[in-house]
Amino acid sequence: NAHVYAEPRRGQIHFSPKRGWTNDPNGLVYYNGEYHLFFQHNPYGVNWGNMHWGHAVSKDLVHWEELGEALYPDEFGTMFSGGAVVDTKNSSGFGSAQKPPLTLFYTAAEKSWTQALAHSSDGRSFQKLEKPVIDKITDGNRDPKVIWHEPSKHWVLVVYVTEEGDQHAMHFFTSTDMKSWTFASKVLGGQGNDRYLFECPEFFELPVEGAAKKESKWVLTGANSQYAIGTFDGKTFRPEEERMYSQQGRDYYAAQTFSNEPKGRRVEIGWWRTHTNQHGSSFNQSMSIPTTLSLRKTARGTRIIRKPVVEWEALRAGSQQLQSSNLTPTSANALAAFDSELAEIKLRIKPKDAHTIHINVRGLHILYQVADQELVVDNVRTHAPLINGEQELTIFVDRTGVEIFASQGEVFMPINYNLDQKNRDYSLRVSGGSATLVDGQVHTLKSIW
Ligand code: FRU
Repeated sequence: NAHVYAEPRRGQIHFSPKRGWTNDPNGLVYYNGEYHLFFQHNPYGVNWGNMHWGHAVSKDLVHWEELGEALYPDEFGTMFSGGAVVDTKNSSGFGSAQKPPLTLFYTAAEKSWTQALAHSSDGRSFQKLEKPVIDKITDGNRDPKVIWHEPSKHWVLVVYVTEEGDQHAMHFFTSTDMKSWTFASKVLGGQGNDRYLFECPEFFELPVEGAAKKESKWVLTGANSQYAIGTFDGKTFRPEEERMYSQQGRDYYAAQTFSNEPKGRRVEIGWWRTHTNQHGSSFNQSMSIPTTLSLRKTARGTRIIRKPVVEWEALRAGSQQLQSSNLTPTSANALAAFDSELAEIKLRIKPKDAHTIHINVRGLHILYQVADQELVVDNVRTHAPLINGEQELTIFVDRTGVEIFASQGEVFMPINYNLDQKNRDYSLRVSGGSATLVDGQVHTLKSIW
């Protein structure tokens, strides 16, 4: 594989299809011992169009094998985004209880704007139903996400709908057989350019860490990672906190989480909008690294917390431990000896009276501005507020940019940036005062290909 995936702009620790354009991850599901990643795919060109569902499988969430297209455009339209579930009890009758079917829900777009279903018993070939399962609500309605609601013993489908006045809305439907769906309720988002609850709904329940008593909450998100937290009775979602963001980057979109995740985790992959359409590449765009989501009660409210999946540690090829040290404007660069193209950097820093902590990653300048409690990626002028105190920063470095985790998982900044392949400089400096490097590690990473 190595030479096929070695193009100068191809992310080496991020999945991208061998050829063609990709955008949203679709149908993330664990089925028959494999993680399935379907994705919006134009097999014929490096720009958006001719949407199919591409398909890749993985045993470890790190290494993916790309298969052929799973869904092709048909008389109802092109294949827009959607989700997948395993029908464990065979409530649809598409398989058997011994051989539960895998079902994909997608939008037949641009012609009929209907929600449709395809099923499989081997995770390789997919059979579409003759007719869509939900008729058009309004033009552009799209991106069905289906979950099983155990207390109500029914399926729930959430779909994005543009209502009159360019009002964004998420409509909820229920079903016991996956074929006939009944409208249950809706939640309104923003209007027009206010992209709250716009496209690609994701909906799940998580326990709340740090809550006084055992409790769980439901999370509803749209494509821009803006989310609401609330309660759900099987039919109606009632938001309690709204409009938070689960990421602060500029290039992460249409994320989705795996259903049927074998370890019970809530693992998310987003479309990482990379600048890969260069030097005549035969492919364009990529996926983010998989991250695990949880909920934590914080002083600001209940918030999504994010960590890279532990499987990612398998890519570590060599590690250097950084000694605890006092960082001053004249101290030596603690990262001077490091020169890997692909990297994972972990730094635990107590800011003390420093004004700014400067982390240079191969020409990308990541600044921790202490007084403002802000993380800034200078080259692209992107900012994220940090939570006070000691910071543990984790930075994944690829050809296509970086993904930064900070503030105990409350901050996630995916930043696309074409790093200069020859620039292998890393540095850690402080200005305006001193800081403590409590500890740190730098890891050289192997390519996933
Ligand atoms: C989000 C999106 C979806 C749609 C798909 C089409 O990026 O616009 O709403 O289904 O992309 O490719």
